[in-house]
Amino acid sequence: MAVADKERVLKLREEINYHNYRYYVLDDPEIPDSEYDRLLRELQALEEKHPELITNDSPTQRVGAQPLASFSEIKHLQPMLSLNNAFSDEEVLDFVRRAKEKLQYDQVSSEIVYAAEPKLDGLAISLLYENGQLIRGATRGDGVTGEDVTQNVRTIDAIPLKLMGEQFPSRLEVRGEVVMTKSGFNKLNEIQRDKGEKVFANPRNAAAGSLRQLDPKVTATRPLMFYSYAVGLVEGGSIPDTQTAVLARLKDWGLPVNSEIKQVQGASGCLEYYNEIGAKRDQLDYDIDGVVYKVDKLVEQEELGFVSRAPRWAIAHKFAAQEEMTRLLAIDIQVGRTGALTPVARLEPVFVGGVTVTNATLHNQDEIERKDIRVGDTVIVRRAGDVIPEVVSSIKAKRKKGARKFKLPTQCPVCGSEVIRLENEAVSRCTGGLFCDAQRKESIKHFASRKAMDIEGLGDKLVEQLVDADMVHDLSDIFHLELSKLAGLDRMAEKSAKNLLDALEKSKSTTLDRFIFSLGIRQVGETTAKTLAQYFGSLPAVMSASEEALIDVPDVGPVVAESIVHFFNEPHNTAVIKKLQAAGVHWDDVEVDKSKPQPLADQIFVVTGTLSTMSRDEAKQALQALGAKVTGSVSKKTDYVVVGENPGSKATKAEALGITILDEDSLHALLTNSAAK
Ligand code: IVH
Repeated sequence: MAVADKERVLKLREEINYHNYRYYVLDDPEIPDSEYDRLLRELQALEEKHPELITNDSPTQRVGAQPLASFSEIKHLQPMLSLNNAFSDEEVLDFVRRAKEKLQYDQVSSEIVYAAEPKLDGLAISLLYENGQLIRGATRGDGVTGEDVTQNVRTIDAIPLKLMGEQFPSRLEVRGEVVMTKSGFNKLNEIQRDKGEKVFANPRNAAAGSLRQLDPKVTATRPLMFYSYAVGLVEGGSIPDTQTAVLARLKDWGLPVNSEIKQVQGASGCLEYYNEIGAKRDQLDYDIDGVVYKVDKLVEQEELGFVSRAPRWAIAHKFAAQEEMTRLLAIDIQVGRTGALTPVARLEPVFVGGVTVTNATLHNQDEIERKDIRVGDTVIVRRAGDVIPEVVSSIKAKRKKGARKFKLPTQCPVCGSEVIRLENEAVSRCTGGLFCDAQRKESIKHFASRKAMDIEGLGDKLVEQLVDADMVHDLSDIFHLELSKLAGLDRMAEKSAKNLLDALEKSKSTTLDRFIFSLGIRQVGETTAKTLAQYFGSLPAVMSASEEALIDVPDVGPVVAESIVHFFNEPHNTAVIKKLQAAGVHWDDVEVDKSKPQPLADQIFVVTGTLSTMSRDEAKQALQALGAKVTGSVSKKTDYVVVGENPGSKATKAEALGITILDEDSLHALLTNSAAK
């Protein structure tokens, strides 16, 4: 019995190591996580039954040790070097030219082969394997001595406790980078925030903090990854003769190697790689801060040698830094299209992520409090890819005495209306709506848009001109525009001014649902506006509806209801509505017929692609008339997807989710049959 158990234990370990290898090294798992967990639990149970079978390299023994009081020092068997940096193409060309010179390559007709690698933005560590067993792990430290983080390194599943194969050297130092994945970092921060614990500024800090935990149980919960990029000491065995082959060998031994590594030729190959990786940077699930070019042949590396602590055979070609330090001069409040108040940091100009940044978002009040950011602080600004620059943190040690905490105003800085913050929302909003200057341009644009009042000729540019020229204060003013004044505007001929007035006149005759939608009430889109019109039948009925009454309306939840009530409670808004009606905007009340059959009630449709017999909007209206709900994106809740010509990804997604797909003919059949019911 015990013999059978022992065999099973050995078999399980082998299997688990193999699946780890599939997952972390090959990035190609064979079994689902649940099956992996099952194997691990079975092994745990057997080891509990036979503690004498437990070995240090068993996959169950990753998290074992007690918390440390402090880290001890370790001397690396071979020093860990650093890299020189290149910040421009010219510096790379120089680097390549010098290497060619020293290696006596012909500058014109021959090229050095390089291993081009991403420069991972994490934490360098050195792993020592003796006879294939992971003996210890150390941080880089000053390159000569580092900290012993063995028990933390052991918790990283990507790092094998035992090498695979047989041909490994009896002593081997493996160098590489511990990184935290971006996705893991975001999840970790969410958890930390929920627990009210420290939130990390970026994945590198999070990786470093995780690895320098005294309690390995904490490290074990952190989403860390490891990529090997070099070897240190090699004793009692040999390694191949190029960097590329060395990494391939490490991979064979079960060590993860980054999959973006490539062999390139000469300076042009290096620069091409730099651009390639630069373009991919945002899609990678780990941060990189540049690329590294390494002369591929080890004999050539040896010939090139070192200058002080950095090799002449390698260089780091850096991307523009994504984080820089600067001073927070002031916090301004920006009022957005929907009235959202966004605190914006005014910064001492700083070059970051390839551009000069003077403003950055502070997101909202909660974020400012969480990061404890105050005017006058020295702050870290981050600009990654196309993302809006943000203030990541403030350096508390540099804070001036008397720096005061920041509070969002309770009244809109633009129009003075009350600022509210809805439950479960991080954002505070101005309730001024149509009255608020900052929101006016956007709300007029919305009012005039095709699905709202559909005022032809009143485009975005013109709206801005009209507001800037002080010709329009509130929505109703657009119906009092005069030909002579309009024609005086830039790029406005008399003919187009006349057309605009005609369009304005025509738009006055509208429908209740369009009018409600036009008002730009937060949370009230086209569909909700329709529902409200149908349910209440008249504007006064909608305006006087209580939150409770609104919640009874199909598809209106508490958040929408609260927003509607707030809108109509604001006297500015009701005044504008009155003025619009006085200017001649009118519609017919809707007959409220709750007994109308709704054969497609509760059915959720998505319409995609081009239909030949009707527009997508018409299809939508026809479906809605029968009670169906028509949404814009396919999800598990979708019942039917109507597919026209050139449907794109929504159809693919529907297929993947097994949702019923209707072609145009089937849609017609469904509409006809349902209407007949
Ligand atoms: S090789 C002699 N390769 O950059 C060369 N380093 O300044 C030793 N790094 O501390 C390093 N990605 O943390 C190398 N693909 C890569 C790298 C890399 C990131 C870091 C490493 C090291 C620093 C060198």
